[in-house]
Amino acid sequence: MSNVLVTGGTGYIGAHCCVALIEAGYHPVVLDNLVNSSPAVLDRIERITGTRPPFVMGDVRDGATVSSLLDEWRPLAVMHFAGLKSVGESVRQPLDYFDVNVHGTIELLKAMDGADVRTFIFSSSATVYGAPDSAPVSEDAPKRVANPYGRSKLMAEEVLEDLAASDPRWRIARLRYFNPVGAHQSGMIGEDPVGTPNNLMPYIAQVAVGRRERLAIFGGDYPTRDGTGVRDYIHVMDIAEGHLAALEYLRQTPGLLSLNLGTGSGLTVREVVAAFERASGVTIPVEIVPRRPGDVAECYADPALAARRLGWSSKRSLDEMCADAWRWQRLNPGGYAP
Ligand code: NAD
Ligand code: UFG
Repeated sequence: MSNVLVTGGTGYIGAHCCVALIEAGYHPVVLDNLVNSSPAVLDRIERITGTRPPFVMGDVRDGATVSSLLDEWRPLAVMHFAGLKSVGESVRQPLDYFDVNVHGTIELLKAMDGADVRTFIFSSSATVYGAPDSAPVSEDAPKRVANPYGRSKLMAEEVLEDLAASDPRWRIARLRYFNPVGAHQSGMIGEDPVGTPNNLMPYIAQVAVGRRERLAIFGGDYPTRDGTGVRDYIHVMDIAEGHLAALEYLRQTPGLLSLNLGTGSGLTVREVVAAFERASGVTIPVEIVPRRPGDVAECYADPALAARRLGWSSKRSLDEMCADAWRWQRLNPGGYAP
């Protein structure tokens, strides 16, 4: 009885969590509609761990599929990574974001309730803090969202709060990730964005491997150490281990848990570029361009509550994040594409 349903388990963070779950003795069962991932991820998970997780290609909004999966596998918990995550796309297609991220979460929860499975770990985001008044950001900072993606995450969080209040049998964690980066140290799984990467680390990695000419740095005049934006980059395997710690906690403790998953350290864009150059030995050409609309100067976590509640804190350094991102990119210059 150590099955865990992992929605979005072929995606970037879900795949790393599957590896961590298997290595901790759990049995992940993956549900994903492959809208933003490749089934090749399953081969890679098998190569790393020796175990191939059972996989169902399906949509979290399809209650009948989810119910039959829950009946078949009787998981002790659900980790819900499936979702859409592009801020720009959410501005153009808000209904898709509310449909997948909010309605999809509700369908999943209804199926869980019907199957008597009530332990749930939700992928939330620092995006729920919008532009924070100050950093580090703690869990009780005001929630103010700046785009439909952020609103869909906050709406799902609110659904979970009301659900936890309605029935004491629920055990729910809302984990707010800061900036997950890096890859499994094997170099066999990693981030494989479709098209031009929106995020900093995959963009740098694609410049390093020769797929892009130079990094455009969005803004060199922020009130920060070197004028570039400050974020809390955290290794994706630390995020995965945070999920394991949350799972262990929820197995002991009912109720609602809301936690930041970050390192607590803010780094500038230039500091990340310099670290990637050290890790790869490749010079990254950069160009300062105007600020990206909606970006904030500085956002990093206060991770103290996760340490207190879970005994979890991030372990891996910026150099490891860059070395692992680079190994993944170098071994898989075109991502999972054959
Ligand atoms: P990802 O796109 O790599 O993974 C999401 C997975 O969900 C993909 O495999 C996709 O195919 C699947 N999916 C999407 N819609 C689905 C649906 N309707 N039914 C079934 N499967 C569906 O993204 P990721 O970076 O691994 O993010 C995982 C979760 O963490 C997301 O919910 C995201 O919003 C959240 N999150 C990500 C970040 C980040 O920077 N990567 C930060 C904070 C929060
Ligand atoms: N940046 C660049 N050039 C790029 C990409 C990013 O200079 O090509 C800069 C950004 O301006 C920012 C930093 O690098 O200062 C990090 O940018 P990311 O896009 O990697 O990350 P963000 O913190 O802006 O966004 C992430 C997620 C969003 C989420 C947000 C808050 O991608 O989905 O965190 O949680 F909303």
